[in-house]
Amino acid sequence: MTIANTVASGNACPPAAGAIPALNATAARDLPVFDAALAAEMAPLYERVRHVVTPMEWPHYAPLIKAINDLKKERNAVILAHNYMTPEIFHCVGDFRGDSLQLAKEAARTDADVIVQAGVHFMAETSKLLSPDKTVLIPDPKAGCSLAESITAADVRLLREAYPGVPIVTYVNTSAAVKAECDITCTSSNAVKIVESLGAPRVLLIPDEYLAKYVQTKTKVEIIAWKGHCEVHERFTAEELEAYREADPATRIIAHPECPPDVIKVADFTGSTAAMIDWVKTKQPRKVVLVTECSMASNVAAEAPNVEFVRPCNLCPHMKRISLEKIYDSLRFMQHEVHVDPQVAERARRAVERMVNAAI
Ligand code: 13P
Ligand code: SF4
Repeated sequence: MTIANTVASGNACPPAAGAIPALNATAARDLPVFDAALAAEMAPLYERVRHVVTPMEWPHYAPLIKAINDLKKERNAVILAHNYMTPEIFHCVGDFRGDSLQLAKEAARTDADVIVQAGVHFMAETSKLLSPDKTVLIPDPKAGCSLAESITAADVRLLREAYPGVPIVTYVNTSAAVKAECDITCTSSNAVKIVESLGAPRVLLIPDEYLAKYVQTKTKVEIIAWKGHCEVHERFTAEELEAYREADPATRIIAHPECPPDVIKVADFTGSTAAMIDWVKTKQPRKVVLVTECSMASNVAAEAPNVEFVRPCNLCPHMKRISLEKIYDSLRFMQHEVHVDPQVAERARRAVERMVNAAI
């Protein structure tokens, strides 16, 4: 496998501050009071999260959840919640939950007027590409991604020159401008199949070096990578995971392919966030370490109370910008709308639709 060595990258995401509407995110919120009637109405939702949200926390969350769910009906809105959202968002206001691929597919087929992306900016841009006539909102436009920031459209144009005729596959964790320069997108759940679907002997797979290295172990296609990394997954080490296993040999280690190769080597299973969740729900291990963003363990724990989760807590600071308060403000003030330049959008959409239509 080769690491492409080209030129300097700039900052592809998030968008310029000037693009952010100056609406009043701190305005007093008009929320219902947590009284006995509201407690009773919200009890079925609390049931979903009671293993991971304490009774002390619930009176704070419940009025926001009630107000958000009412606003969703008023606006004909849906919330697409990534697996890294905290449990009160994921289980109590998310209409569709999943990994990047699942959320992109939901964005393409929803008939709602408004999509609120409870995730990061590249995910909201992907939703806008697939639903150009809908209003797509991101509760905090600063919710970026270190992978998306590792490469620019200019970098991709230079890669085209350096590797003429070699198809370029981009991970969805990139800006629309980068997607517009690529042939097809992929996610962590379909990267191997997308690379092989091109029928080429060599493929550029950008920008995540570790995802590319993982894919290289699964295919004979020669992979050329870029040196982007996820700031959350690159922090895990094989040593810390071996220590968990030494402490209790029954501990299962499940890793995301954005982890470094030595981490993946010690894992019992590697897959996208959705594949990791499926693995835990199906295998029901006694004890498991989810080697990924740490809110995901809470979300799975809410539904798998018999599994013990060892939690090396690496939080994604970008995902954690999304809160119930910001989702509420987003729906109330219809902020912050995601726009993609129409010329960029047309080319970027082609790359994303090619992936979605590949039925992989
Ligand atoms: P998934 O597509 O596996 O959900 O990954 C998205 C992501 O950002 C992981 O860090
Ligand atoms: Fe990006 Fe990593 Fe955060 Fe996922 S976890 S959004 S790849 S920084």
